[in-house]
Amino acid sequence: MNTNDQRSLQGKRILLVIGGGIAAYKSLDLIRRLKERGAEVRVVMTQAAQEFITPLSAGAIAGGQVHVDLFDWRAEFDVGHIRLARDADLVVVAPATADLMAKMAGGHADDIASTVLLATDKPVLIAPAMNPHMWSHAATRRNLAQLVADGVAVVGPNAGEMAEPGEAGVGRMAEPLEIVASVEARLISRYQGAGLSGRRVLVTAGPTQEPIDPVRYIANRSSGKQGFAIARAAAAAGADVTLVTGPVALADPPGVTVVKVESAREMLAEAERALPVDVAVFAAAVADWRVAAPGAQKLKKGTSGTPKLDLIENPDILATVAHRKSMRPALVIGFAAETENVIENARAKLDRKGCDWIVANDVSPGSEVMGGDRNSVHLVSRDGVESWPREDKQIVADKLIARIAAALAAAAK
Ligand code: CTP
Repeated sequence: MNTNDQRSLQGKRILLVIGGGIAAYKSLDLIRRLKERGAEVRVVMTQAAQEFITPLSAGAIAGGQVHVDLFDWRAEFDVGHIRLARDADLVVVAPATADLMAKMAGGHADDIASTVLLATDKPVLIAPAMNPHMWSHAATRRNLAQLVADGVAVVGPNAGEMAEPGEAGVGRMAEPLEIVASVEARLISRYQGAGLSGRRVLVTAGPTQEPIDPVRYIANRSSGKQGFAIARAAAAAGADVTLVTGPVALADPPGVTVVKVESAREMLAEAERALPVDVAVFAAAVADWRVAAPGAQKLKKGTSGTPKLDLIENPDILATVAHRKSMRPALVIGFAAETENVIENARAKLDRKGCDWIVANDVSPGSEVMGGDRNSVHLVSRDGVESWPREDKQIVADKLIARIAAALAAAAK
């Protein structure tokens, strides 16, 4: 399956439910992205959604009538809300507001959006969007857990600035292309054979934090987005996934066992604890050094001048797992962040670390890979190099998982 295929959703029918949040404006772009991939998009809007965008604009982009009223006899005569709920391959809720999620979790049906969501017999994907406090509220956590238990798939939310001035945190709706990648992951059988079902996958992600004293640490700018996207894609392909992550501002991907660590040594211990696995993907930006003797108490400014930090090398988690005599995963994949001679350096790293593939990315200044949503990578193996176009990190993840599934299937033959 080629995710660059512009008609990747040809013939697929998507029912898009737009909830009432500021992120609704992104749903117009989502409709456009789905349509340009060949999908047929039907739109339902809540009353609140119409405070942000109009049915006219959504309908103009979707190329059809927008459903806003449960009791509109014309619409009922034309399609009917039960048919609307069922005549789709996938129902996408974007933005999924706290209120809409609560209604879904509680099984309410008091408007057209909640009614089609209760009446549908098709898979549902939600893209939550709300203020970070609403997202982290116990009620939303409960509703989310209920929805996941009910089989609802979730994309995002992401961390970042909120519409409210001065507010930031997890709650921004996933970008339209991330939602499209999730839709594709659900609707297109891109995996050979059984995908990754029955397979165990380990992913490391994020930065590590190496203590200087109880309040200070050494870290780096890794956001964890690429590793989280890989864990999400592996789970979507049916794998049993353990994600060992350093401190990041990302929501746990649904259906993934998430183990949170701080230092490189903790990450190594937890990665080894997750073995045996079939595949291990080391996407974490592990700190290469730690402070040899972190202060037991906070270092104080004083008469002894500026402190001298004595650094020692951290264990290499990827190399340790790749060189294991027992329980070495069948496929060990490392990442390489390079600013020059990307491919040559990646090849050397492949041998030095003992891994099977290296996903090399160019992080030179201006590439905006670190912390950004897009990545341009080269997949380097002993058989050669494949260069992928600059794409959304979720699409890179989906492609990588497709390649992994194909490699495992080929090895099993
Ligand atoms: N890695 C690891 N444990 C470390 C260091 C790195 O598991 N202590 C893994 C990373 O997760 C990544 C790969 O090794 O998969 C990156 O290797 P690294 O040697 O750190 O390369 P770069 O970050 O590219 O930096 P440099 O070229 O300076 O070594």
